Amino acid sequence: MANPKEKNQKISVSSLKQFKQNHKKITALTAYDFPTAKILDEAGLDIILVGDSLGNVILGYENTLPVTMADMLHHLKAVRRAVKKSLLVVDLPLLGTRDQRPGTRVKNILKLIDAGAEAVKIEGLEHLDLIKECIKAGIPVMGHIGFTPQDIEKLGGAKMQGKTKEAAEKLIKDAKQLEAAGVFAIVIELVPEDVATQITAAVEIPTIGIGAGRHTDGQVLVLHDILGLTQGKTPKFVKQYANLGDLTKQAVQSYIRDVTA
Ligand code: KIV
Repeated sequence: MANPKEKNQKISVSSLKQFKQNHKKITALTAYDFPTAKILDEAGLDIILVGDSLGNVILGYENTLPVTMADMLHHLKAVRRAVKKSLLVVDLPLLGTRDQRPGTRVKNILKLIDAGAEAVKIEGLEHLDLIKECIKAGIPVMGHIGFTPQDIEKLGGAKMQGKTKEAAEKLIKDAKQLEAAGVFAIVIELVPEDVATQITAAVEIPTIGIGAGRHTDGQVLVLHDILGLTQGKTPKFVKQYANLGDLTKQAVQSYIRDVTA
């Protein structure tokens, strides 16, 4: 099969498994609006994630917990208008998991698909039943294990997971369970590098790490963190590739000087 990366073709869910088989690393970043999504897509990124980090990165909340389905839909639609080649994945926010009426959560997720998401990321294994329902309904699902930001209160902060032997074994078991349920990839967040390496070897589907070392099948980061646009603390594992925060401030100060002169 032709390699979509080399042919500059549209990335699909099935491209990712091929990348793992061919030892080609998968690249992913978040985007929440039209202009940045267009830049990422044109730069050749494999996956664009409309993450529920929207809450803290864009909407000014302390964490992802207050993000609504309406918030996700609004930003997803803007990103959809920009993305041509990258695979477009959207997060199911915590509030989208809360409605327990039969079939309602899948109906909500279908709204994300109707708005142009090609796959949905669902955190943790607490919603394994929902993950299975989605897959049965033909919705591609990406898993997310390790530190799951929607559990920030339960976990007592953004803390490294899987540090003990038992916790590491549980993560490997969770990854295998998600694979058996039919997810097409798994995000592994804030896990020691050796544990993320073991998980990656234990499953055939690609793993995408964030703060999980170098040996996952791909990497994902929050765009604003790598561009120096994050207001407040950036996680230690983030490499900053530019300081657009400072550049923007300087540009705006030049503008103010020009106008006032
Ligand atoms: O919400 C998000 O942005 C995420 C990642 C960065 C993995 O879940």
